[in-house]
Amino acid sequence: MGNSRDVISSLTRRETALPYQQTRCLMPRLSTKLLRQARQVDPFLVLLLRPCRELTSARNELRWLTEFVSQRPPSPAGKSKPTELRKRLRKLCEERGRGKPLQYILGTEHFGELELICEPGVLIPRRETAASVTHLVSLLARGAQTHRHPEPLRVLDLCTGSGCIPLLFHHLHRQISPPRPCPNILGIDISGRACDLAFKNLRRTHGHAESRPDIDFAIADVLARGFLPWEAPRVSDVLKTRKKLTWDIVIANPPYISPSSLFVNVERSVRVFEPKLALVPPMPITQMRPLRTRKPDPLFFDFSVKLAPRQRTSPKHDFYEVEDTFYHRIIGTAMEVHAAVMLMEVSSLGQALRVVDMLWRRRRWNRVEVWRDEPDQLPDEGEAELETVNGRTVPIRGRGNGRSVVCWTNEAGPWLGQTDVAA
Ligand SMILES: C[S@@+](CC[C@H](N)C(=O)[O-])C[C@H]1O[C@@H](n2cnc3c(N)ncnc32)[C@H](O)[C@@H]1O
Repeated sequence: MGNSRDVISSLTRRETALPYQQTRCLMPRLSTKLLRQARQVDPFLVLLLRPCRELTSARNELRWLTEFVSQRPPSPAGKSKPTELRKRLRKLCEERGRGKPLQYILGTEHFGELELICEPGVLIPRRETAASVTHLVSLLARGAQTHRHPEPLRVLDLCTGSGCIPLLFHHLHRQISPPRPCPNILGIDISGRACDLAFKNLRRTHGHAESRPDIDFAIADVLARGFLPWEAPRVSDVLKTRKKLTWDIVIANPPYISPSSLFVNVERSVRVFEPKLALVPPMPITQMRPLRTRKPDPLFFDFSVKLAPRQRTSPKHDFYEVEDTFYHRIIGTAMEVHAAVMLMEVSSLGQALRVVDMLWRRRRWNRVEVWRDEPDQLPDEGEAELETVNGRTVPIRGRGNGRSVVCWTNEAGPWLGQTDVAA
């Protein structure tokens, strides 16, 4: 039996467990000895030491960059001369030395069993996200041994970015035994760049987009109008147009970093090179306009509230934070589309517990859990297996930092291999 801790301390504690976290706040200078050692092997290692901090990783990166350069000659006409290759390699090492993420330079990143294209302007997919999605599909696979989930399963991924979640979900679901019909998945993002990349990744992992009518991507705004200075269709409008108003599972990895945390806790290379749109929830552009004057959305209730940098997201629940902005909308959307399972990535255990509180207030979900970074592993010593939120306990599964909040209705318990019915 795990220990439980008090809600208030958990909810107010400022945890720094972001996947984009600054891990070297007080970075020691690189020693002259290390720099000399690196220069003796290859002068380019000196450039790579700045982001890598130690020789072994710098050597690995140099190897990958060298392979990358030699596999891609500048003109298809012929091979590059060694001096030209070296010149191009230097340019890439300099970019890397300035902190540009390796994935943007090499152009790909592994995400579970997939290798996806990465492009500047779209968030690089993280391994913690892949671990949650993999665990969710493994539960569905377990449930499929004894119960049938709806077929085809309908999955809505909000804030899809590179399309990594729909693509991995689809890829893993195809491996379920006995085989099930392919799920029907729609990824939504406000960024046209993200949707373009998601389609590119679809072509890369699943062949021609046209031959995959079961995976699609669309531009839409998950938040209420007034948060962003440009207009995008709302999720509700996109779903109405497509006549797809009900979904079985909603997944979301939204922007969840507070503006202040961005500067304190997030690694410089993430802050400088990855899109802020993907990291930090926006401030509403109409902060001064009273919310009540907005026309209510008949399909999707408008939970947006007036925000200012350090104001709370709701005057009623004063422990919600600015970085929680998206969760209100995502939960609202999941309810409107009658989702029976929901998986939302969060930044930390503290944020997870605030989201748990939001879910319990809606009274739709029979089960709520928090998953850590590695939800399929046993917890490390000292990691709590239960937390208390407003007098109710919530199970915390796995090992590592609090990474996602998962909930489902009694109807969906058997889909996930859970046969006990919760009140
Ligand atoms: C944290 S990233 C997640 C990307 C991807 N799902 C992943 O796991 O790597 C958040 C994504 O939300 C998108 N986004 C930001 N604001 C949005 C909004 N109002 N509506 C829809 N998508 C939004 C960003 O463009 C970004 O791609």
